[in-house]
Amino acid sequence: MEVKRAKITAVGHYLPEDRMTNKDLEKLVDTNDEWIRTRTGIEERRILKDPDKATAFMGTQAAKEVLKNRDISPEEIDLIILATVTPDYFFPATACLVQKNIGAKNAFAFDLSAACSGFLYALSTGAMYIESGRAQKVLVIGTDKMSSILDYTDRTTCILFGDGAGAVLLEESDDGTGIIDQKHYVEGDSECSLYQPAGGSLNPANEETVKERLHYLQQDGRAVFKKATMGMADVSLEVMDRNNLEPEDVAWLVPHQANLRIIDATARRMGVSSEKVMININKYGNTTAATIPLCLYDWQEQLDYGDNLILAAFGGGFTWGAIYLKWGMK
Ligand code: ACO
Repeated sequence: MEVKRAKITAVGHYLPEDRMTNKDLEKLVDTNDEWIRTRTGIEERRILKDPDKATAFMGTQAAKEVLKNRDISPEEIDLIILATVTPDYFFPATACLVQKNIGAKNAFAFDLSAACSGFLYALSTGAMYIESGRAQKVLVIGTDKMSSILDYTDRTTCILFGDGAGAVLLEESDDGTGIIDQKHYVEGDSECSLYQPAGGSLNPANEETVKERLHYLQQDGRAVFKKATMGMADVSLEVMDRNNLEPEDVAWLVPHQANLRIIDATARRMGVSSEKVMININKYGNTTAATIPLCLYDWQEQLDYGDNLILAAFGGGFTWGAIYLKWGMK
């Protein structure tokens, strides 16, 4: 029996206009441009300043661009999977808000929470719906308003992240291109190495949690750094190995953008040369669920039909994974 495959047939994005440079951060915390550039590779990030707009707005803009680029109507969408750690509300799901905003009347929609690995988990999940024949057109969105959970008095975290969204459309492939393999992992005992301590059902919001600044992201940066480097490289090598791919067979490595040093170390460990690595962390920082679709968006003109891409991510949970796909857009 022939295996059905899902392929990406359109890409969209949204980035807020407002830029926050390293110099801007120097005014908020005890840091400097040189430290941030050399330790992280980040030069600036985008911030969604309009208080009336949030994660759903950015996801909606990215989704609308996908529909426009593919020239299809919203009614054709069967399913929306939206990856985020900064939903507009705990419920309803942000995916439902996007469904309403774009007018996807025939779609069902849900959020997926896997932090920085969220987009890859969502892409794998969306692909399963296409492969099983249960859906024909699936919108996969990664969108995060990280500025809403950052403590701008904590120099160890606020410098790292930015706001943004990316989205892709998945459809059935009839030419052998598309998502070929995927592998994902979780190490749930690392929950407190990277998390938002309050606001959930364990520590609901109260005066105390607000006073103690527990609604902001907290992390053990060094622990995350070490695990991310090993995790992204090893799972990518695992996927490459079982698909008989040598480093020279990989046209592009599309890594989650957390830290330029993590990206460089990952590529080195994989044996992939630096000119084949997508890097835009300098412009956007870490946009969590949006980093990988934003890379695909920025590089789409340079991607050739049939290119072998390895997508790799690591994030809170810890969650990590890699996807091997053959680029199918002409
Ligand atoms: N400006 C200036 N100095 C700083 C800053 C800052 N913004 N932040 C920390 N420092 C200081 C520290 O206080 C420390 O000073 P000390 O030596 O006097 O104690 C010194 O710099 C070195 O601190 P380290 O934590 O060892 O710095 P490191 O080189 O590990 O870089 C960083 C820190 C950038 C957070 C790094 O560990 C990292 O990127 N970790 C991964 C975290 C991450 O990406 N999380 C995102 C989500 S998960 C993901 O996406 C994979």
